[in-house]
Amino acid sequence: MASKLSPFLLRTAVRKASRAPRLHIRAFTAGSARRSDSLNVHRNTPDNNPDIPFKFTAQNEAVITEILKRYPPQYKKAAVMPLLDLGQRQHGFTSISVMNEVGRILDMPPMRVYEVASFYTMYNRTPVGKFHVQACTTTPCQLGGCGSDVIVKTIKEELGIKQGETTPDGLFTFIEVECLGACVNAPMVQINDDYYEDLTPETTKKLIKALRESASGAGNVEVPKPGPLSGRQTCEHSGGLTNLTSEPWGIETTRSDL
Ligand code: FES
Repeated sequence: MASKLSPFLLRTAVRKASRAPRLHIRAFTAGSARRSDSLNVHRNTPDNNPDIPFKFTAQNEAVITEILKRYPPQYKKAAVMPLLDLGQRQHGFTSISVMNEVGRILDMPPMRVYEVASFYTMYNRTPVGKFHVQACTTTPCQLGGCGSDVIVKTIKEELGIKQGETTPDGLFTFIEVECLGACVNAPMVQINDDYYEDLTPETTKKLIKALRESASGAGNVEVPKPGPLSGRQTCEHSGGLTNLTSEPWGIETTRSDL
């Protein structure tokens, strides 16, 4: 009897096993963590600690008065960004003392000011060189023209520094940044407040050389004008017009009676 039942029991067991819920195990993978280049914490250093006094100049005090007029008095903390920017321009970077002074003027807890300053990359919380070179390496700049990889390589070679470093003479600081909104003229860099676009290794080298010479006080140095360095005016088609090429109609053509 047992020998007759065995195949039946075996088949039933196999069917049941095949109907049993299966465990789906998927491999879990994660990319390497990409951390920010700068610490989001403050470490006291000889040139950046709260004991270093900071005051806005009389001229900037007047600017602050003007800025504050734009906001209702109960919302004057909304002026934190322009004031931090003003402090950075006066002091050279957004030091802890600049942040504390802005907090004092706007009646804000210092931590609230630190939160803003550490969120936006436009605030340099450590000293930077005279020329702050920010190369865009987002996709359109990677793909446009000769590509931002080539530009980054050229900058590093010309300056002899790596990302996030300042040249020993204190002239140049170089960092890579995300899209600066000039994608149509890629690849591009921002140097202080100016954009230089449509770059090639040659124009990049020329630009750095001109900036270096201008800082050394050498006369007759012509620093290229900001904008496209390819000869384009702005972001027009580099191959010339493809439509609207005829003379625009004048008033006589359309309405001779006007
Ligand atoms: S991707 Fe470089 S400016 Fe937008």
